[in-house]
Amino acid sequence: MISKASAPGKIILFGEHFVVHGTRAIVGAINKRVTVTSEKNDTAAISISSSLGKATIPITEEVDGVEKKFRPFFFVAKEVISDHNFKNGVNIEIESDIPIGAGLGSSSACCVAAAASVSNLFSRTDISQVLDLAIDAERTIFPRTSGADCTVSALGGIIEYQKESDPKPIKTEHDFDFVVVNSQKMHNTDAVVSRVNKFKDGNTDTFSELCTEEDNLITKAVNSLQTFDLETIGKCMSQNQIFLERIGVSNDVLLNIIKSIEKETFGAKLTGAGDGGCVIALTDKAKKDSVVQNMSTEYETYPVTIEKTGIQLNITN
Ligand code: PMV
Repeated sequence: MISKASAPGKIILFGEHFVVHGTRAIVGAINKRVTVTSEKNDTAAISISSSLGKATIPITEEVDGVEKKFRPFFFVAKEVISDHNFKNGVNIEIESDIPIGAGLGSSSACCVAAAASVSNLFSRTDISQVLDLAIDAERTIFPRTSGADCTVSALGGIIEYQKESDPKPIKTEHDFDFVVVNSQKMHNTDAVVSRVNKFKDGNTDTFSELCTEEDNLITKAVNSLQTFDLETIGKCMSQNQIFLERIGVSNDVLLNIIKSIEKETFGAKLTGAGDGGCVIALTDKAKKDSVVQNMSTEYETYPVTIEKTGIQLNITN
């Protein structure tokens, strides 16, 4: 039996970093996906194959001892195998069209697709179990994750996310067009999240005011997403960028991209941890191609839409 599952990447429209500290965030799945194919094997090892390399790891190995790029997949396989008292291993193959280390949710989509693919090899599993397993897998490499990325990858669409609360899908019939510009500066989410923690510790009042302002901004943004008020959404994005600058996660490369793209779009901001990674801009559908063309002379640029489908599953015997 072969179990194939795919899951989308994401953009954070509003609230990155603040979400780690309990504020709401708005996250959208994007039309770039990871596909994980798995099957049982008759060895005592878990084999993993992706564009980042190949590894065959005995099932007795400790999760912490496994190289980071393979760890979440190994964790997922080991958990599922042990839950089902399976004595052998599994083969896992990962294919992705999400850029790595750019803040577009590549690792979360991998965790979600792997959790869905491997779980369903053994028994039909519901989405909330798959999501819990995916978040635990992501915690093996990023212990402080808010869980927002995995949640939107599993559910698809645009969601309002807050830690410890059920995610709220934002219902809209409209299509949103974004342009994503990759600064091609790799970032380390854990390091940036630690820096924000330090900022918070040294600036308690400012940080708490910013959390309140971010929350107010999100209320406005949710309304404008529901009413398809692109002008207001764009303004909210620009305002969110200012909050992110205040906590020190933007930089000159990102600011240059934002300055040049915001002239021809509704608004732009960094997305994800910052310090590198990508900028997103909300654009008019009719202008999208020319925005992409103008930006791509200097940066890797792609048009992105919101993907309505989260986990997609395909099991063949
Ligand atoms: O850059 P990414 O895709 O790792 O996004 C990180 C988003 C943060 O809010 C900074 C962390 C989180 O877990 O929500």
